[in-house]
Amino acid sequence: MRKAGRSAATVLDRLCGAVKSGMNTLEIDELGGEIMKEMGVKSACKGYRSGSKIFPSYTCLSVNDEIVHGIGVEARVLKDGDIISVDVCIREDGMIGDNCRTISVGKISADIERLLRVAEQSMYEGIRQAVHKNRVGDVSAAVQQHVEAAGFAVITNFVGHGVGRSLHEEPQIPNFGKPGTGLRFRKGMAICIEPMVNMKKPQIRMGPDGWTALAVDGMPSAHFEHTLLVDEESPEILTFPDGFSCAEEFIAHRATASL
Ligand code: MF3
Ligand code: CO
Repeated sequence: MRKAGRSAATVLDRLCGAVKSGMNTLEIDELGGEIMKEMGVKSACKGYRSGSKIFPSYTCLSVNDEIVHGIGVEARVLKDGDIISVDVCIREDGMIGDNCRTISVGKISADIERLLRVAEQSMYEGIRQAVHKNRVGDVSAAVQQHVEAAGFAVITNFVGHGVGRSLHEEPQIPNFGKPGTGLRFRKGMAICIEPMVNMKKPQIRMGPDGWTALAVDGMPSAHFEHTLLVDEESPEILTFPDGFSCAEEFIAHRATASL
């Protein structure tokens, strides 16, 4: 899990570093596929089955009002002021690493910048609660409280999840709920915490491709995700990229880096 997490984060970091105004999301997805190939890891998105649907892209790329599970397409060209959620999920040595970050393209408005920072921080508020003997509801409530205190809305249609040999394992980790409820965490459990945060309304609508979920009001949406291991004192974040000795170093770097 440590190896897969680190690779997932390295792909995400390299791909985010390449995103520029004028690129289309198919190009970004293909670049993601090339980076994975070069690193000797496989996409866990491409070929993912949900009922009779099969996910067609290497990565999930969701622009502006697209919340999650966006597909790379040539017609979707990025421009200054856009945001894009880059969700990278890989398999290495049979184990999964899953992580996502919403980044800006060129200069974005102060409102959207605040949406991104609140969504990212809500993920860390949730992560902080993912310790031995706490419950799933402690994570859910921490995420929800942080988002709603800032005046934004959490998505309830999609949730975080257990992770391991499969991408989506038990338990579900909702981004809303009550402290002290739900399954109790145990040291060594691997989970993904992934809040999706809308600017105003929490409702979603499904796009015509059957995968992309969009904000019903057309307002921007942000999505952040880490894979982590539950531990006694504090969880061990697994999705930090090469070049950092630990997740804390990466988080400190992210806090000082520009968007
Ligand atoms: N982080 C996303 C999730 O857990 C990755 C989805 S891959 C897909 O839902 F193939 F299901 F789209
Ligand atoms: Co996930």
